[in-house]
Amino acid sequence: MSNSQPIVKVENLWHIYLRDTPLEVVALRGVDMEVYKGEAVGIIGHTGAGKSTLVQHLNGLLRPHKGKVIIDGVDLSQEGVDIRAIRQKVGLVSQYPERQLFKDYVADDIAFGPQQFGLPPEEVRERVKWAMEMVGLDFERFKDRYTFSLSGGEMRRAAIAGVLALRPKILILDESTSGLDPRGRSDLLRRIKELHEKEGLTIIFVSPNMEDMAELVDRIYILADGQVVMSGTPREIFSQPEELYRLGLGIPQVTEVMHALRARGKNVRVDVLTVVEAEAEVCKLLNC
Ligand SMILES: Nc1ncnc2c1ncn2[C@@H]1O[C@H](COP(=O)(O)OP(=O)(O)OP(=O)(O)O)[C@@H](O)[C@H]1O
Ligand SMILES: [Mg+2]
Repeated sequence: MSNSQPIVKVENLWHIYLRDTPLEVVALRGVDMEVYKGEAVGIIGHTGAGKSTLVQHLNGLLRPHKGKVIIDGVDLSQEGVDIRAIRQKVGLVSQYPERQLFKDYVADDIAFGPQQFGLPPEEVRERVKWAMEMVGLDFERFKDRYTFSLSGGEMRRAAIAGVLALRPKILILDESTSGLDPRGRSDLLRRIKELHEKEGLTIIFVSPNMEDMAELVDRIYILADGQVVMSGTPREIFSQPEELYRLGLGIPQVTEVMHALRARGKNVRVDVLTVVEAEAEVCKLLNC
């Protein structure tokens, strides 16, 4: 993997909101990050750490105040960059996806992106159906629903469908699964994981849910006060609970249980990340 070029490269990225005013906020202070094609990378960090600011740079919604963002070889700070092409390549579902919706009817909203790229109507319809299916919104039932009559969770799904319908190479989910019921969330994650595994979709996943992180991503970056303070595989990261607690973060609950058992002198692995792995360790103790 390290031999190939990263599809996302962030170099010494700085972002300052309300620059040169008394309210100035330095949101990113020299962030470096690389994501390789087909990887699933997680970003975690306390509230206000700069996660949303960082991901908004990746599809050109924000521009660097210093440093570089290079997407698939294209330096976004260069003059004359085709931002429309970047937006098609990098699908960002924002932290407040309901704010992304603006058409009256659900199917029209989801169709808007693909229409902008001049696809024939039959293909647009196919994509809308596919994207609605992916997020668990039944096409016939929801296509003619008034967008603003949807429930919060349905709006989130519709917003995610609108981004998926663009068939991006890189999908960024900024806390987009928050607010869904547990079953809906795990259904959606399963489908996204499938796209990642079967079609090589590159994923950048921002979530406060450490279980989801452990389940979905290959690597994690931890942001604190606008800087990357740790990075590594989920096993590497979650094996350092003290560091994470110090940063105001947590670890998956099953991992926490294993650490607690180990602290009581039980011989269990502490790099366990999933319920299935934890079950095996507990069974070992109980001889089941
Ligand atoms: N439009 C803005 N104007 C001024 N300051 C902003 C703006 N957007 C974000 N900030 C500030 O920049 C910092 C980083 O915000 P950001 O939204 O990137 O954090 P985050 O890690 O996504 O937080 P959360 O977990 O709460 O979503 C915060 O201090 C925030 O108050
Ligand atoms: Mg955020």
